[in-house]
Amino acid sequence: MAFARNQWYVAAYGSEVGRDLLARTVLGEPLVLYRTGAGKPVALADRCVHRRFPLSESRLDGDTIVCGYHGFTYDPTGACVFVPGQQRIPRTARVVSFPVVEQDSFIWVWIGDLDRADPAAIPRAPWLADPRYAVVRGMAPLNARYGLLVDNLLDLSHETYLHGGYIGTPEVANTPITTEVDEDRGIVYVSRHMDDAECPPFYARSTGIQGRITRWQDIEYHTPCLYLLHSRIAPQGVYPPAEGEDSEAFHAEIVYAITPSTEHTTYDFWAVARDFAIDDESVSEYLHHSNHTVVMQDVTALNILEQVITTEPDRYQELSINIDTGGLAARRLLARMIGSGTVGAAR
Ligand code: FES
Ligand SMILES: [Fe+2]
Repeated sequence: MAFARNQWYVAAYGSEVGRDLLARTVLGEPLVLYRTGAGKPVALADRCVHRRFPLSESRLDGDTIVCGYHGFTYDPTGACVFVPGQQRIPRTARVVSFPVVEQDSFIWVWIGDLDRADPAAIPRAPWLADPRYAVVRGMAPLNARYGLLVDNLLDLSHETYLHGGYIGTPEVANTPITTEVDEDRGIVYVSRHMDDAECPPFYARSTGIQGRITRWQDIEYHTPCLYLLHSRIAPQGVYPPAEGEDSEAFHAEIVYAITPSTEHTTYDFWAVARDFAIDDESVSEYLHHSNHTVVMQDVTALNILEQVITTEPDRYQELSINIDTGGLAARRLLARMIGSGTVGAAR
C-alpha cells in the first residue's frame, strides 16, 4: 500500500517526548524522538549512517545522540559531529532531521520533501491544550492497516453493534447521515443528528442527564491524519440558542490522530476533551476507562479484519450502503493524495 507523503502526521503526544529516546515508525520511516535541553522536540532518522544501529537504542549526551554501537555522534540537525578514531568527519555523515511542530499537545512530524513542510497546514485540535476542557487520552497500536481505522471512524453506525453498553444505542445506526466533502482542503464532514435518543452509559454517567437526549455527532476528517468528532449531548429537545453560548448542552470533542506506521500497523491516538465536570476526577477516570475499552473493541475488530483481508482471495468485492458515504469519500480523497488508485481496506 502506498502512503500519502508530503503530509504532517502525529508521531507522539508531547508528554511522551522528553530526555529519553523514543522510537516510532511513521509511514515506514523509523524515527527517534527526544527533546533538547531547552525543550525543543527533535525527530531524527533512527538509523546510524555507519552500520544502521538504531539511535533510539543509544544515549543522549546533552543535545546530541551518541550511537550505542561505535559512537558516531549526531546533533539535533542530524549532522554527525564526532566519529571515532579520526579527525575528519565524512561529508555524508548525517541522518535526516524531520521537521517537527508541537501543537495542541501533539508532536507533528512532516514526512516528505523537507523544503515543502509548512507548519500552517497542520490541522488544529485546540481543545486538547485548553484549560477550559478536561482531557483524557491514550494511544493504541493497531495490527491493521491505516485505511481500516479511517473506515471505522467515518462510519459510527458501528457504535450500535460493536460498542453497545458504552456509546452505542439503537438510534446511532438508525439515524441517516449527511456527508459533505471539501475537495480543496481535503476534509470530509459527516453529521448525524439524533433528536430523541437513548442516553448511552458513556454520557449518562459523565453528564448526569437522566432520560432521553438530543445527541449530535459532527465529524470532520482532515485527511490524512486528524479526525475530530464534535459530540453535543443535551436533554431531549434542548437545542442551541439562536445567539450566545450553548450552555445547556454538554460538549465532548473527540479527537483521533490516525498515523500509518507500516503497511499493516497503525498508531491510534485518541483523546476525549469535555467542557463539563472538568474538575471532577471521577468523571475523568470513568471516561478514560470507557473510551479505552471502546478503542480496544475497535482494535480487536480491526486486527481481525486485517487478517481477513491479507488471507482472502483477490476477487473479494465489498458491498457499500448509505452509511459508508463518508468512508468512501475519505478513501477517494486519500487515493487522490497518494496519487494511486487504491488505499485503505480496498486493495
Ligand atoms: S553503527 Fe553507529 S557508530 Fe557504528
Ligand atoms: Fe468504534
